[in-house]
Amino acid sequence: MTVADLPVTEIAAILAATDRIERMAGLERSRMLAGRRIALLFYESSTRTRTSFELAAKSLGAITTLVSDKSSSIEKGESLKDTGLTLRALGAECIILRHANSGAPYLLARATGLPVLNAGDGMHEHPSQALLDLRTILARVPGLDGGRVDAKTLAGVTVVITGDILHSRVARSNAMLLPKLGTKVLLCGPKELLPEDALGLGSPLNSGNVEIERDFDKALKQAQVVMMLRIQRERLAGLELDLADYIARYQLTEERLMVCAPKAVVMHPGPMIRGLEIAGEVADGPNSAIEDQVRNGLAVRTALLVRALGAGGFESVTV
Ligand code: CP
Repeated sequence: MTVADLPVTEIAAILAATDRIERMAGLERSRMLAGRRIALLFYESSTRTRTSFELAAKSLGAITTLVSDKSSSIEKGESLKDTGLTLRALGAECIILRHANSGAPYLLARATGLPVLNAGDGMHEHPSQALLDLRTILARVPGLDGGRVDAKTLAGVTVVITGDILHSRVARSNAMLLPKLGTKVLLCGPKELLPEDALGLGSPLNSGNVEIERDFDKALKQAQVVMMLRIQRERLAGLELDLADYIARYQLTEERLMVCAPKAVVMHPGPMIRGLEIAGEVADGPNSAIEDQVRNGLAVRTALLVRALGAGGFESVTV
């Protein structure tokens, strides 16, 4: 449910399981979770996470059901606990939860005793996103030995994360995960979206591997990877942000990329707002790994499901 406590050996095991499942023939894969019941419980909108978990579960032979806050008894006021107990009574063996409140997956796991996979909880974490981002970085950054995952695998690699870091569970999970493999994470954005205490995002074990650079061009000049984040208008209440000024200083344009970091891998967890944090030509350009991220989401989530259900000889672990 968090990457904070995930040791490097576990990260390596998840990536190895992802590779192994990806190589399997469809029939073999579809037997791994044949007939197992998985519930997707989504209290916030999602395209990538929801669809990829669902397709991943189905490719493993599982039976899935989606419960969304918009069309269920949640609208009538049913609590998270009672919804979870209802899903368990209906035979769910695992719940994938997206929720606006940080910590909701812990509450649900405690209430139901089921493995709960965190599909994003408030401004806290998005562990499967960080794992798919890691897989994308390992595949796209030149010169890395993608088969070796240890504390030095990403030594010398700087990942710049730019944008609404204050509200971003993706930034938080990446800032905790990537330094475990030796990455330097450079956070970039204006004070309104990147307070100084964001330095505490990095795990204490990796202190020093997370830094702040407010000048985007200076940050980019150090980047092998640049991860752009959406301005989360739905979480901006009370914050004054001059969007025109933000765009001028922090939008990843083609010109900025070519001048400051022509070889950098461009990432975005989505959904992206073209013309705000990222120019359309960059999103569609040769540096972009955005569609790779989506594909890796499907792959990594098969491994997370198999491991959560302790199937296929994998030890049971939830992330
Ligand atoms: N990256 C991500 O979480 O996207 P969705 O909100 O579409 O799932």
